[in-house]
Amino acid sequence: MKILVLNGSPHPNGPTSDMVKAFTSGATEAGHEVVCVNAAHMNIKGCMACEYCHNKGNGVCAQKDDMQEIYPEILSADMIVFASPIYYFTLSAQLQAVIHRTYAIDIPKNVKKVALIMSSGSQFVYGPAIAQYYQSIVEYWGVENTGIFTANGKQNGSEEKRNELYMFGLGL
Ligand SMILES: Cc1cc2nc3c(=O)[nH]c(=O)nc-3n(C[C@H](O)[C@H](O)[C@H](O)COP(=O)(O)O)c2cc1C
Repeated sequence: MKILVLNGSPHPNGPTSDMVKAFTSGATEAGHEVVCVNAAHMNIKGCMACEYCHNKGNGVCAQKDDMQEIYPEILSADMIVFASPIYYFTLSAQLQAVIHRTYAIDIPKNVKKVALIMSSGSQFVYGPAIAQYYQSIVEYWGVENTGIFTANGKQNGSEEKRNELYMFGLGL
């Protein structure tokens, strides 16, 4: 299957990206096609709520920024993995911008599975991100949650986490 990873961490070598790399390695070994998008290093603006997409635009966003490269990837993916550091108890603004901009295409019809990867400094900080993931992605899109993975404190960048994410990818 085609798997799209939307990474909202600005750190290419941080613990979020570390888990993404391990997941990618396992999923690729299992024969899946994995496309990783580093949303935090792209020019993706917040939704302007202009409603062009729902009127004249017919599903096309009026904002001509880097999100235009991501729309076809979302629409062709069988699975989407959301990866983010925790900022103020929720997903990074960079990943939020991508999620909000799916307003233009509404529910991506090809996506059947999703997963969530998060890194944080502390434990017990994932509630708001998980609530959003369940309500606005799993339930609203009507897709299968295949796993929620977290790393905090000493787990960040650890071999144990790398192995967990590698095995998750390999098992898909
Ligand atoms: C703006 C900002 C807000 C943060 N908010 C939280 C938080 O609410 N809870 C927490 O445990 N860690 C918080 N952190 C720490 C990051 O989640 C943590 O360093 C994480 O491992 C970063 O992952 P990355 O380097 O892969 O992006 C915050 C960091 C930043 C920069």
